[in-house]
Amino acid sequence: MILVTGGAGYIGSHAVLELLNSGYEVVVIDNLSNGALESIERVERITNKKVIFEHGDIRDSAFLKYIFSKYAILSVMHFAGLKAVSESVSSPLQYYDVNVTGTLELIKAMSTAGINKIVFSSSATVYGEAATVPYVESMPRGQSANPYGASKGMVEQIFTDLARADERWSIVLLRYFNPIGAHESGDIGEDPKGVPNNLMPYISQVAVGIREKLTIFGNDYPTRDGTCERDYLHVSDLAEGHVLSLSMLKTPGLYTFNLGTGKPISVLEMVLAFQRVAKVELKYEFGKRRDGDLPAFWADASKAKELLGWEAKRDLAAMIKDTWNWQSKNPNGYNS
Ligand code: NAD
Ligand code: WQD
Repeated sequence: MILVTGGAGYIGSHAVLELLNSGYEVVVIDNLSNGALESIERVERITNKKVIFEHGDIRDSAFLKYIFSKYAILSVMHFAGLKAVSESVSSPLQYYDVNVTGTLELIKAMSTAGINKIVFSSSATVYGEAATVPYVESMPRGQSANPYGASKGMVEQIFTDLARADERWSIVLLRYFNPIGAHESGDIGEDPKGVPNNLMPYISQVAVGIREKLTIFGNDYPTRDGTCERDYLHVSDLAEGHVLSLSMLKTPGLYTFNLGTGKPISVLEMVLAFQRVAKVELKYEFGKRRDGDLPAFWADASKAKELLGWEAKRDLAAMIKDTWNWQSKNPNGYNS
């Protein structure tokens, strides 16, 4: 049985779906601060399989003790956390509390229960501002521009020190690039609360008429068309990468993988492709640069291909088609 923390969130729900389809039994814990119970119910419907759900917080040691004593858990996929970069700047302590203290509580509860296999949701942000592109796992972590990124780097350091100190642990750090898209059913997807921070949910809310227009943050970057370039990958590819990464947990050690396509796409290219694939018009304007944005970064994803047999299969058109399918079927997300 696999414990999935944050399994009611965007990426976690897609991973739960892929785990069930691969024959795993799953227990989800989530405090629903940014997730939806409805996503779990829909995953059950899509897969025709049951998910055990327990409502609780990863910072609550008594709750974690109860979970590990009640269920025969073999390994953990740890998605639970806070992820809004600008909010992390205004509320740094909250971010360190959930992302760092929460992870420490989870590790302590796992240790007590004798469970030492974990896959962690890390981020390309840990490469920091000075890294050269494409990002390769062998590069050192860099300085992060915000508390969110710093919290991911701290957790990676904690896991690195733990793997060095205790040879029983098997730890996989998955560094996601920019996950977008939705399951091909259009029944689960990204459902941000309030104004979206990220590009793709913002675009799809403009497309469906919830927002008036997209502001493209900067068109004077040293890139092909002046707008920022990112490595967008389909969330279902990302979820499949998680299932494949479980194979690494058989051998103790620390393993780090980039999960991306290796192909940068600019903001403007994304907007134009969205219009073409979804056959909708998007109103947009060019605005000022957003603080802390890097001009361009993308993954060298060859290590995941070599060791996990993982490679992103879905192209940009599929990412857009599935985003639009989800958004148009559920204009107000899980509250539609
Ligand atoms: P999400 O907010 O949709 O999912 C996170 C889930 O964790 C939510 O369901 C939330 O309710 C839950 N949660 C938050 N705090 C909790 C707590 N204290 N106890 C229990 N549950 C809690 O975010 P997501 O996009 O699915 O991201 C999942 C993970 O992947 C996060 O750790 C995030 O930092 C990481 N990540 C995301 C991206 C991205 O672009 N979405 C990129 C890189 C890494
Ligand atoms: C993508 C591009 C924006 C919104 C963030 C985190 C990162 C990771 C993924 C978790 C940028 C531009 C956006 C808009 C725009 N998360 N944009 N108008 O910044 O690459 O990464 O999410 O780990 O850590 O930093 O993703 O989707 O916010 O932006 O022009 O309204 O779209 O400037 O170039 P980003 P994003």
